[in-house]
Amino acid sequence: MAFGLIFIYRKVFVMLLKEKILEELEKNSDCYVSGQKLADMFGVSRNAVWKAVNQLKEDGCKIQSVNNKGYRILSVNDVLSPELIKSYMSDKAKCLDLIVLDKVDSTNNEAKRMIANSFSGHALIVSNEQTNGRGRLGRDFYSPKNTGVYMSFLFSHSVKTSRAILSTTAAAVAVVRAVESLTNLKPMIKWVNDVYIENKKVCGILTEAVTDFETGLVQNVVVGIGINTSTEDFPDELKNSAVSLNWNGLSRNRLTAEVVNRFIEICSDLDNKSYLKTYRERSLIIGQSIDFYKNNVKYNAVAVDIDDNGGLIVKLPNGLTEVLNSGEITVRLSKNKK
Ligand code: BTN
Repeated sequence: MAFGLIFIYRKVFVMLLKEKILEELEKNSDCYVSGQKLADMFGVSRNAVWKAVNQLKEDGCKIQSVNNKGYRILSVNDVLSPELIKSYMSDKAKCLDLIVLDKVDSTNNEAKRMIANSFSGHALIVSNEQTNGRGRLGRDFYSPKNTGVYMSFLFSHSVKTSRAILSTTAAAVAVVRAVESLTNLKPMIKWVNDVYIENKKVCGILTEAVTDFETGLVQNVVVGIGINTSTEDFPDELKNSAVSLNWNGLSRNRLTAEVVNRFIEICSDLDNKSYLKTYRERSLIIGQSIDFYKNNVKYNAVAVDIDDNGGLIVKLPNGLTEVLNSGEITVRLSKNKK
């Protein structure tokens, strides 16, 4: 059960004038946009624009109005809005059913409940807060309200497990590309599913598959992505290892859509593994000394490369190479890998 349903978007999409204006002001946040230009753009009177801007101000948006210049947004509206997310989405991404929640235990759990309730399409579930955000290996993912992007893709189609695994690498690349398109930050990827900024984790990805017992095929894939956008009060155990993007003026609506656009783009041609080039270039660990566990035994190795299935190729001290396909590695990051 979702706790606080804001909106379910199902393909019919009507944007209010104030939302169109907000989108335009957000896109031009570095300059003024004249009332006349907005009126012409949306086929309404200047008075209608004026009224819509006043509504936005009443909604809490900080918009400056200056005579003979027009309107300028002073801080982006960071309230999650299905309309705004959709307005930034590519046509391909718009094929997803978009569900935006105020609060939920976990967007991955919500996706799995939809599967249990016979949902058979492709969906994106976004929440402003998670009360039980989950990470890999049974860990929690700290998901306070208003300061992060917590989303899960739900795909309903049979795929081989290997393709489901590739979804995680695709998601990591999508996050890197999206963050880079909106900021000057340089995100890096720690195999297999974490995105780092300056050696601290800013994003985690949890991919879960629902498998058909008889065919062994994955029937549904749920790819959950959590990005800390402006969280500051991390719990003590995360204080030294977690970080937020903290990028002035970054809109969570825009970031959500940019991640979705890039992820859907990569997934629409997953066999063309060219995106792995970005994954390799952005790897935080290639060339680094790492530790990993196999059958409860700890091994040390050097991370050499990422193979075409997203596996990590490591070189052991005896000179042999091995491919790791899952699991956890630890790495002591050297200063030049930022
Ligand atoms: C990890 O760090 O191990 C993975 C974290 C994944 C967090 C995301 S937030 C959206 C989705 N819902 C969850 O409960 N987890 C994922």
